[in-house]
Amino acid sequence: MLAGRVLPLSEEPSVQSSSWSLKPARDLLPKQFQAWQELLENRTGMVLDERRRTFLLTQLNARMRELGLDDYDAYLARVGDGPQGAVEWARLLDRLTVQETRFFRHPASFDFLSEYLQGRLAQGLAKPLQLWSVGCASGDEMYSLAICAAQALQAATLDFSHFGVTGTDISAQALKLASSGEYPAARLNNVPEQVREQYFSAVDGGRYAVKEALRSRCCNIRLNVLELNKAPLHNMDVIFCQNLLIYFRRWRRRDILNRLIERLAPGGIMVIGVGEVTGWQHPDAVPVADDRVLAFMRRKVA
Ligand SMILES: C[S@@+](CC[C@H](N)C(=O)[O-])C[C@H]1O[C@@H](n2cnc3c(N)ncnc32)[C@H](O)[C@@H]1O
Repeated sequence: MLAGRVLPLSEEPSVQSSSWSLKPARDLLPKQFQAWQELLENRTGMVLDERRRTFLLTQLNARMRELGLDDYDAYLARVGDGPQGAVEWARLLDRLTVQETRFFRHPASFDFLSEYLQGRLAQGLAKPLQLWSVGCASGDEMYSLAICAAQALQAATLDFSHFGVTGTDISAQALKLASSGEYPAARLNNVPEQVREQYFSAVDGGRYAVKEALRSRCCNIRLNVLELNKAPLHNMDVIFCQNLLIYFRRWRRRDILNRLIERLAPGGIMVIGVGEVTGWQHPDAVPVADDRVLAFMRRKVA
């Protein structure tokens, strides 16, 4: 139902004359750097430490150049200025977020998922499976989840359409890519040949598109993980949250996991990136005893 829907953003302003690109980027004053750090962390949870100062400078300058701006403080004021500022903030965010991802990025997590689904489906299926990719970037993880669910249903000789995957992310640009379901051939390098043939079609320009039967089981929603109270997602069977929490402070990682576990159905699983969280405990979360992965099952009702 939500497939292909992402928030509209205003038109890209025209790129300014080349004289801008010749100017070296001015460094940020300590208090300016701190102001940008605070803005980013307050709004997204991401901690931008000193090692990423050059990254921030590069991204700010690239965007300011497009807008014809030369003053960090003026640009900071602009992103904080009402609805127009919110649109500009969304644009900048596309540049400041790390959107690196891959299909089946952590193979052991997907092997674990397939085994879990196989076990679940052996007991029958009371309702369609619901899976969630939190911080889905360009959708590689979302479609990897969809492929695992489709394969598990097929192996259990159940209806292919009995699942849905939701991919959420803060970046509108990432969601647009995810919704398109189109990828350059090189992105499918670690997708087994047989899986590629079954779930992707070759399209123009050496690209591959996720087949409609799979794509139509997936939808995207723009969602800030700091605002999980707004997430219209409950009773999930599977939540994947990988390579997102690493950018956050420890207390915030635990806080987010506390919110996510509430969104699982009893017996559902939450799979985190290995090493992304240590020592997290929750009365409803049962750690999964499998060294290959970091996963928790929501306690079943007694
Ligand atoms: C490195 S990618 C991880 C993609 C995928 N989960 C994986 O493991 O390959 C991190 C994603 O988290 C998103 N992100 C960062 N902060 C976020 C926030 N506060 N709420 C939702 N998504 C966020 C970024 O836009 C980016 O697409």
